[in-house]
Amino acid sequence: MKAVRWTSDATPGLELHEEPVPSPAAREVLIRVHAAALNFRDQAILEGKYGGHTQPNGVPLSDGAGEVVAVGNCVTRTKVGDRVTANCHPHWLSGPPLPEYQLDSLGMTSDGWLAEYILIHENAIVSIPDYMSYQQAATLPCAAVTAWTALNLSSPLQPGQTVLVQGTGGVALFALQVARMFGARVLAITSSDAKAETLKEMGAEAVVNYRTTPLWDKAILELTEGRGVDKTVDIAGETTIVKSAASTRIGGDVALVGFTSGFGGGLPPIDVLFRSLTVAGTAIGSRSNFEALMRAMKQHEVKPVIDRVFSFAEYAQAYQRLASGDHIGKVVIEVSG
Ligand SMILES: NC(=O)c1ccc[n+]([C@@H]2O[C@H](COP(=O)([O-])OP(=O)(O)OC[C@H]3O[C@@H](n4cnc5c(N)ncnc54)[C@H](OP(=O)(O)O)[C@@H]3O)[C@@H](O)[C@H]2O)c1
Repeated sequence: MKAVRWTSDATPGLELHEEPVPSPAAREVLIRVHAAALNFRDQAILEGKYGGHTQPNGVPLSDGAGEVVAVGNCVTRTKVGDRVTANCHPHWLSGPPLPEYQLDSLGMTSDGWLAEYILIHENAIVSIPDYMSYQQAATLPCAAVTAWTALNLSSPLQPGQTVLVQGTGGVALFALQVARMFGARVLAITSSDAKAETLKEMGAEAVVNYRTTPLWDKAILELTEGRGVDKTVDIAGETTIVKSAASTRIGGDVALVGFTSGFGGGLPPIDVLFRSLTVAGTAIGSRSNFEALMRAMKQHEVKPVIDRVFSFAEYAQAYQRLASGDHIGKVVIEVSG
């Protein structure tokens, strides 16, 4: 089979390999990969910005979807022929995160989806509903599950609540779609007026351009009659966190998701204290979160936003597309048709 692996350099590159198709051990599932999808972290790993947590020479990509072609002994959760995807943290079934879940992550500590076949423990398997294509399902495990987790942080998202999403990347657009499924009002910030139009078409009620309106937190307060939003999904970290807190109502949630602008930020404790905020990190999510998301998406037949689909041979171009920041939604690689 063809598999792309990280090189063993300190800042890894990517290298195409020909290797034998692996066989499933007990409780493992062999999947023929149809599609895989990129996340910000996949590019961050190549730029040496994601710590030393990756498996040397591992196969990248936490996200993909395909067909079960073989199962090991004692597998009960799936069978040959099933259309499946998988939770990023294979053994995080439900409940709050534990250290061992985070230390076990597809496309980081074990081989990911940028290969024609992948072996995954059956614990991780999530079924794909009939209406959803492999390419669409491939976009969900990291960004969509994170969006779901982030919006249900200290309390479940409620109809009529107001949610602030940031940017037009994978997590942000899934957060918008989840919020709309719940009947929440969505406000958004983005880097360009053209991207703002896409956000509006998807159901954002108002969009603020954070380049032309650097004090966008004031605009968000105006849009909420000075109260602030119920839930903010913070994507950029360093440049957004203080304004995210200022945009969120007293007693609201700020979900710390990303670091697209850097790892710093310096949120003063007093900003959290005065507004009685819950500010908490997200670590993607459990399989039960993924399954809850899948049920909700199926009910509404929600389709993920795919920016562009690249062929397997074009995997380097797919990474370039993500690195450009010009994408809207998810960058997908079709591994086999
Ligand atoms: N903690 C977790 O569990 C978890 C899970 C998934 C992802 N993440 C992190 O979340 C972040 C987003 O991931 P992703 O996969 O959605 O990335 P992505 O698809 O590459 O999207 C990133 C988008 O962020 C927006 N952005 C960049 N700088 C911004 C700023 N200063 N203010 C507001 N928006 C900004 C841009 O959209 P516009 O051009 O429209 O502004 C950009 O396209 C990354 O840092 C990623 O590592 C964390």
